[in-house]
Amino acid sequence: MAVSNDIDFGTPEVHSDVLVTLEIDGSPVTVPAGTSVMRASQLAGVSVPKLCATDNLKSFGSCRLCVVEIAGRRGFPASCTTPAEAGMVVKTQSTKLADLRRGVMELYISDHPLDCLTCAANGDCELQDMAGVVGLREVRYGYEGKGHLESIKDTSNPYFTFDPSKCIVCSRCVRACEEVQGTFALTIDGRGFDSVISPGQHESFMASECVSCGACVQACPTATLQEKSTIDHGQADHSVITTCAYCGVGCSFRAEMKGDQVVRMVPNKDGHANHGHSCVKGRFAWGYATHADRITKPMIREQITDPWREVSWSEAFSYAADRIKGIQATYGRGSVGAISSSRCTNEETYLMQKIVRAAFGNNNIDTCARVCHSPTGFGLKQTLGESAGTQDFDSVAQSDVIFVIGANPTDGHPVFASHMKRRLREGARLIVADPRTIDLVRMPHVEADYHLKLRPGTNVALVTALAHVIVTEGLVNEAYVQAHCEMPSFEQWRTFVALPEHSPEATEAITGVPADVMRGAARLYATGGNGAIYYGLGVTEHSQGSTTVIGIANLAMATGNLGREGVGVNPLRGQNNVQGACDMGSFPHELPGYRHVLDAGTRGLFEQAWNVTLDPEPGLRIPNMFDAAMAGQFKALYCEGEDIAQSDPDTQHVTAALQSMECIIVQDLFLNETAKFAHVFLPGSSFLEKDGTFTNAERRISRVRKVMAPLGGLADWQITMQFANALGHPMHYDHPSEIMAEIAQLTPTFSGVSYARLDELGSIQWPCNAEHPDGTPTMHVGQLVRGKGRFFPTEYVATLERVNGRFPLILTTGRILSHYNVGAQTRRTANVGWHEEDRLEIHPHDAEERGVTDGDWVGITSRAGETTLRALVTERVQPGVVYTTFHHPESGANVITTDNSDWATNCPEFKVTAVQVLPVFGSSEWQQRFGVFHEAQHKLLNDRVPAAPAKNT
Ligand code: SF4
Ligand code: SF4
Ligand code: SF4
Ligand code: FES
Repeated sequence: MAVSNDIDFGTPEVHSDVLVTLEIDGSPVTVPAGTSVMRASQLAGVSVPKLCATDNLKSFGSCRLCVVEIAGRRGFPASCTTPAEAGMVVKTQSTKLADLRRGVMELYISDHPLDCLTCAANGDCELQDMAGVVGLREVRYGYEGKGHLESIKDTSNPYFTFDPSKCIVCSRCVRACEEVQGTFALTIDGRGFDSVISPGQHESFMASECVSCGACVQACPTATLQEKSTIDHGQADHSVITTCAYCGVGCSFRAEMKGDQVVRMVPNKDGHANHGHSCVKGRFAWGYATHADRITKPMIREQITDPWREVSWSEAFSYAADRIKGIQATYGRGSVGAISSSRCTNEETYLMQKIVRAAFGNNNIDTCARVCHSPTGFGLKQTLGESAGTQDFDSVAQSDVIFVIGANPTDGHPVFASHMKRRLREGARLIVADPRTIDLVRMPHVEADYHLKLRPGTNVALVTALAHVIVTEGLVNEAYVQAHCEMPSFEQWRTFVALPEHSPEATEAITGVPADVMRGAARLYATGGNGAIYYGLGVTEHSQGSTTVIGIANLAMATGNLGREGVGVNPLRGQNNVQGACDMGSFPHELPGYRHVLDAGTRGLFEQAWNVTLDPEPGLRIPNMFDAAMAGQFKALYCEGEDIAQSDPDTQHVTAALQSMECIIVQDLFLNETAKFAHVFLPGSSFLEKDGTFTNAERRISRVRKVMAPLGGLADWQITMQFANALGHPMHYDHPSEIMAEIAQLTPTFSGVSYARLDELGSIQWPCNAEHPDGTPTMHVGQLVRGKGRFFPTEYVATLERVNGRFPLILTTGRILSHYNVGAQTRRTANVGWHEEDRLEIHPHDAEERGVTDGDWVGITSRAGETTLRALVTERVQPGVVYTTFHHPESGANVITTDNSDWATNCPEFKVTAVQVLPVFGSSEWQQRFGVFHEAQHKLLNDRVPAAPAKNT
């Protein structure tokens, strides 16, 4: 039994101002010109049988099941490939049509196993449905077919199977891979009845180019491509719409459930961010939620060398509260603080900053957004007036020039990347600025016009050189600037960037990008039509991250690429709720809605609502917390959903700071690296176990809906609420919708947001208020939020992290498609099959110079520390640059990164670390210590003392 009520219109929606009216089975219907007869029929409420057509793919016309009669036309045209025309008279049912359709079905069924009763798709199979629809009663050609019945099943992909014996060669999978995903991993081999679907060059799915997005599985009308989870568990009995908890794309999914067990996650066709597409993480990598490593009982211990003791929730809360209060009594109110995570819902994040400000009585709240996109908030606020991206994802379909800088969308934001690739295949031009040859530079049917393969750490010089070309070659959109920007700031900026020292020729020695390439890219961006900039952590995680964000905003203002579809400045947020984490006031200087704690008026609003007096002094940022801990002034930390011991730079400094504290309270799913230093463990809940909202990179607020009870008994918002009560600050909410109501009451950009409106609209992009009751897809329309945009000169200041004889290479870091950040979730899924370890990418020249060959162990040493990884010799990186991911804790990628940070926001300079790389034979000293500590902590966990059952609440 299928649990989806989605109507499949057979062919995609067409947009046209011209409408045509036709008659279908006696009823008139009016559709945009270009709409297929099949879609028009469905809009008229008439379903035409079909197999090769589905409404997210272009029509193909291969199965001939959808034939219709059209008055005045000869033959029986396929309704999926025939455009509706004014005055057409269409018949979808007749004796002749019924015969034709039965004939088609007979051919299909003659080569199809008749094991419907035991097939995993039984009840969710379009072939089965169509056999019923056409009234198939016999198969005159026998059931032996062409021998496809003997075909061997491919089970290589961990999440889905490919059973060629069930394939009807409708090519929906091939087209889904091309049109929806843009990977081109599948082909049809052979002709006619001999045709077969083949991944890659007759490879298995796992060995092919397939990225396991699931689009082909979704498109397949039979059980040929089938989720293994459905094979294991059977069809779902109900479904719930929710939002992926991995990346900032924020894909909407239908969690298909059997009782409280997830059978599969199906991308939601009505999802505004993903339109029915997904990537391997959201679609398949959800098994971590019920992994055996989940800790589901609260635990406490005096010392981190003690075994854990399971306790009741009430004992855990009172223990934690007593320790916080005791530490504050001894060391002062400012000696405690909290770190929230961009993985938390908006409601949880809001409560985290509230517990700190209202119950701890200080502003020592920070978020992991500090270590990724804090420069975005700063840079965009300064220039444009709002700390968020300017567009929705759909805007890219109107872009003529796409400029991707410091982002790797095919790995980091894969569903948006598919959207972007579709636009590029349609002809949009592409500029990529990245030290590595990321996939987007050259992939099937996509090739960058310009790849600015710059040296890590030189973004500001590059962006300023691009501005130089725009200014000195007369490419400024003077009318836009006059109308929308502060002219004195523009004149100052224009004079600054026009200086000869900022020309591409003068700066190519800094950036390593040939001057003519920079000039070409600048001209293309400025003159190529709608220019849209997409950027990521390759922009922000630098000592001049904020300056580059400002430089990017300068470029957009100077060229008038703001305030309409197809343009804009678009930060690709890393985690699912980076935007929300920032919006909800989890920075130490800002209350929700980016309002400074120094502002007495704003403070007054919250003081009245919370019935407390708020500290007017900004609190400690994450690095300041560590420094204060090392200085003996910061003694307790409450950390929800964030693994600072793995994700933050200079691991040894972080762990030393953690060790110096007297009380660390971790609220999480697993014993992560930070929890190994904890004294209180509060078992958190996965996104499947709670209600709330996430805000994606487009400022889109989407509902997270509970599909199963929290394994630990409490959802995260309840944990923070009860902890606040134990601390003596009364908090009471019966449901997260009440927290959202409080947010809306206190935050002008959220004043129109409520769960009722979210249910009604599906999702809402803030600002959502009286002026924009349905939200705001495009910002800065008419005028910039700031009023007049402000330009700032962007002086390039080389990072202190210089290469020299001792550390001659630059290490830069990033992530890959199959894993997510610290990997705590994805490492507990079959995604490890794609990436079992972090490897060090090194250019063949640098490898040869060091006698390193592919797969060798190498030691990577920086001023901060040393670790070892296996080498991956590749020309993706340029000479002088090495690269690694940081998904496995034992890799110690952040043992090497330093504590340098952005001048304005302290965002760590993850992307530039001077290192030496040399062959080694054993693990580093840090890795050996890590191994011993890891073993010891797991033993203490395994030896935990169980709670007395009666005391558990
Ligand atoms: S695998 Fe499925 S979608 Fe692909 S051709 Fe076969 S039946 Fe069609
Ligand atoms: S899973 Fe995605 S990438 Fe792989 S073959 Fe299917 S559509 Fe293509
Ligand atoms: S693109 Fe991001 S939000 Fe969408 S399914 Fe993948 S990880 Fe989840
Ligand atoms: S659905 Fe029209 S030809 Fe297959």
